[in-house]
Amino acid sequence: MTNVVIVGGQWGDEGKAKIIDLLSEKTDIVIRYQGGCNAGHTVVVDNRTYKFHLVPSGILYPGKTCIIGNGTVINPQVLTGEIENLEQKGIDTSNLIVSPSAHLTLPYHIALDELNEQSLGNSKIGTTKRGIGPTYADKINRTGIRIEDMYDEEVLNKKLDMILPQKNAMFEYFKRPCFTKEEIINFCLKYRDYLSPYIKDPAGILRKALLEKQKILFEGAQGTMLDVDHGTYPYVTSSNPVAASASIGSGIGFTYIDRVIGVFKAYVTRVGEGPFLTELKSEEGETLQQVGREFGTTTGRKRRCGWFDAVIARYSAMVNGLTGIALTKIDVFDGFDEIKICTAYKDRRNGQLYEHYPANLNLHEYFEPVYEALPGWKQDISGCRVFSELPAAARNFISRLEQVTGVNIEIVSVGPGREQTIICP
Ligand code: GDP
Ligand code: IMO
Ligand code: MG
Repeated sequence: MTNVVIVGGQWGDEGKAKIIDLLSEKTDIVIRYQGGCNAGHTVVVDNRTYKFHLVPSGILYPGKTCIIGNGTVINPQVLTGEIENLEQKGIDTSNLIVSPSAHLTLPYHIALDELNEQSLGNSKIGTTKRGIGPTYADKINRTGIRIEDMYDEEVLNKKLDMILPQKNAMFEYFKRPCFTKEEIINFCLKYRDYLSPYIKDPAGILRKALLEKQKILFEGAQGTMLDVDHGTYPYVTSSNPVAASASIGSGIGFTYIDRVIGVFKAYVTRVGEGPFLTELKSEEGETLQQVGREFGTTTGRKRRCGWFDAVIARYSAMVNGLTGIALTKIDVFDGFDEIKICTAYKDRRNGQLYEHYPANLNLHEYFEPVYEALPGWKQDISGCRVFSELPAAARNFISRLEQVTGVNIEIVSVGPGREQTIICP
């Protein structure tokens, strides 16, 4: 039995989908356990690019059961579009299962996300404006509408009678257009028949899979530093991307999980606002952004770029209980004279060094990164397929990352393609 969680180790977009696609080949079931269409997961196979927002990245392998778990939030319009798109590209989606307990992102959630961001002014989060925060807020407030409610008009009516007046009072106050019950019901009706074959309680399938010792892969979205509990709050998403959430968001107890692989970029990127200590606001940052083609998959925004932060990586290793690392985008450093790793934070006021991530964000304004510089390599490594083919400087960089993070690097990715991967010895 090997059930594996794949979790983002930084601020999202680490290349999780590429690793999930890769590991899906030897897996029976892939489950997305949290987040919604704020996620943008890219897989490149035979020069064809597939972008996923809700559907698990394992869907490209025929016959894999792919589940969108109870811990996710689903905009039925986006999900319908995504399935249609996959079908048009010849991808079979008949093994896709959507949990009826997942919460629905409805048009008023998106309007509320917009409104929240505008009201926050300079303190805005920089959300994807996909309605994620308001949907999870409703879930926790017990005023959410679940996928299953789309199929019971009486319940849907009753719930909307309770919820909509509250939402509209807010929209009225801020002089925004209100939503009618008919509008929301029609929105649900528009997508529910198309989605109906996919809606199934996954519990029976999962129980059977566990009994038969099938292999399950848990697909995390976002990343550890965007976790609402463990990330750079309030500049986070509204769910728990960390590995522990795989259990809650899928309905499989955590004793069934064998391994946790953290995906890390060889540098760091972040989309949206919030602290980012190793951010490069210089030409070097610009180079990383351009060479790494760092544009958000969901919003197209430029990603902020900076050096690898080992303080965050060690924290991420602890929070997620990482058993291994998948390191991606190391090829972006081809041609760099020097590569830096942040090994600690220094408090400018008294020189105190922090090797562990301090949760108190108020301290961060006094911090500066302490860097260690390593030599780069002048070689295109995107064609390397075994570890020994990598130049000595690249191997040295990888082993130094293992030392500073305390976690084995099991997979090294040297390009976006499925085959551009090295399984470490
Ligand atoms: P995710 O959200 O973690 O799945 O990551 P995204 O798909 O948002 O962003 C990662 C981007 O990097 C995508 O465009 C991938 O195709 C690309 N990518 C993944 N691994 C590598 C790699 O090793 N090298 C390069 N150059 N690109 C990669
Ligand atoms: P994947 O799964 C990178 C960021 C947003 C914003 C913050 C809150 O592709 O790695 P939200 O819309 O979730 O309320 O926005 O979280 N964010 C991501 N950044 N990758 C993602 O997903 C993200 N999903 C949300 O940019 O800063
Ligand atoms: Mg992404």
